[in-house]
Amino acid sequence: MISGKTRVLGVIGHPVEHSSSPAMHNAALQALGLDWVYVAFAVRPAELRAALAGMRALQIRGLNVTVPHKVAVMECLDELSPEAREIGAVNTIHNRDGRLIGHNTDAFGAMESLRQEGGLEQFPPQAALLGAGGAARAVLYGLLQRPEVERITLLNRTPEKGEKLATELDPGGKRVRVGKLDPQSKDQVRDAGLLINATSVGMHPRQGESPLADPSCLRPGMVVLDLVYNPLQTLLLRQAQEAGARPVDGLGMLARQGARAFEIWTGMEPPVEVMRKAGMERLGKPVI
Ligand code: ATR
Repeated sequence: MISGKTRVLGVIGHPVEHSSSPAMHNAALQALGLDWVYVAFAVRPAELRAALAGMRALQIRGLNVTVPHKVAVMECLDELSPEAREIGAVNTIHNRDGRLIGHNTDAFGAMESLRQEGGLEQFPPQAALLGAGGAARAVLYGLLQRPEVERITLLNRTPEKGEKLATELDPGGKRVRVGKLDPQSKDQVRDAGLLINATSVGMHPRQGESPLADPSCLRPGMVVLDLVYNPLQTLLLRQAQEAGARPVDGLGMLARQGARAFEIWTGMEPPVEVMRKAGMERLGKPVI
């Protein structure tokens, strides 16, 4: 029941109708019996600043931020967390007594999913990361936070973008080496104990594609995380399963980045499994 005291959370994006965040967060709010509600706001880029002014005026407690606002929103905020500043993108805004604080929970979500769903208490010394966009940037930040990860091979279709990302996050160039993602990429992936796909290859409607043309570099003992969650079972994850590697789908990261945002807003321990299940039910419906 919505009451006179109901607090409001939400997500801003454009488009935003397909977001699974409302399902996940409302399930979590209900599970904890909180008089809060989470809604989706379609905000056009030209209205972003006005939307943030509205967040202050209406005392909206928290917003998630999705495409295309994750970078542009940074200059409308009062403060940035160290992660958000370093990653250069915000996916969560916390309205703390009128001060808007930008966070980025994507790196946490990905690392926590690797720990929980991937069974990685200790990360392997060598990791391979495919992609150099916004998602790859958050993952690279997370990997660099783990001292046991000695070497990260970053492969991207456009290697210049990979070089730029590596230089920004690993200025000394000690741990990240960059290459081109192409059919020959298997040699650069073979030695990695962890492979993460942060490209959009394999996403609906091109679910017949895998970022690795030749999956022979996948092997038992390797953990393979695909950030694509539409569909959940990507061709890359099927290839990983067939090779005896451990496949990890993108739902864990989705639920865990949301759970961390929930914790920032409410100060309460998030019911991660409830969020995961709600996300799964939402994703189970055709996303067009
Ligand atoms: P996101 O925010 O999800 O990371 P993005 O910033 O648009 O989205 O990044 C998309 C990533 O997928 C990029 O690394 C992109 O490679 P380029 O930098 O070369 O554009 C990668 N990508 C998209 N389509 C691809 C394809 N068909 N083959 C290989 N890589 C692809």
